[in-house]
Amino acid sequence: MRKQVIAGNWKMNKTHTEAEDFIQATKNEVPSPDEVESVVCAPFPFLQKLVEETKGTSLEIAAQNMHFEENGAFTGEVSPVMLNELGVTYVVLGHSERREIFKETDEDINKKVHAAFNHNLTPIVCVGESLEQREADQTMDHVEAQVKKALDGLTDEQAAKVIIAYEPIWAIGTGRTATSEQANEVCTHIRRVVIDFYGSDVAEAVRIQYGGSVKPANVDELLSQSDIDGALVGGASLEAASFLKLVEAGK
Ligand code: G3P
Repeated sequence: MRKQVIAGNWKMNKTHTEAEDFIQATKNEVPSPDEVESVVCAPFPFLQKLVEETKGTSLEIAAQNMHFEENGAFTGEVSPVMLNELGVTYVVLGHSERREIFKETDEDINKKVHAAFNHNLTPIVCVGESLEQREADQTMDHVEAQVKKALDGLTDEQAAKVIIAYEPIWAIGTGRTATSEQANEVCTHIRRVVIDFYGSDVAEAVRIQYGGSVKPANVDELLSQSDIDGALVGGASLEAASFLKLVEAGK
């Protein structure tokens, strides 16, 4: 039985005070990690404080990106060594906004996935098709290629720990959620791709989240699907009360 992972991706939102208020309101209210994993993906400047404040609670703190190199002349970048040292436990990699706006490639993302494992971070790897690709019936091929490239070269043990977030780009921040059947169909396909590469034991262990306009009103339906093991949530994770409803649904 796979445990659900509910992650709130704040993106580039919140002031330091707003971040603090959110953490104070949620850190002792989220369910035990035996029931559901509750994660907040916060901007870099807040990470150290939020990790300190959530120590000993069931709320985990994630980064939204990182570089794959350990150090060096990469002005403006943050390394996996730095995140690990801070006590960050998860890192979102290959979000469609990173791929589209910041031109991250599948190769970059694969290097980042390896770097995450080398530094004790659990990668949440995002994949998903554009509206154009969906309409051209290219969803499965596109997502399959992204998953294969992202997971290339991992050991079985590492692959089993990867969290894959299926986020159709057309459903992100648009209020247009994929139907639970559409979402599950792609998540089932992703699990088949993992079976082809790593076998069924690994594929049974891999958690696959859905992301794209998830909110308290639709989360139960999405999480009840056979191959959906959690949610990666943007807008509806910004309010503490809404985030708490989402994590409750993951129990
Ligand atoms: O990473 C979460 C995301 O891209 C979905 O955003 O606002 O549609 O929940 P949203």
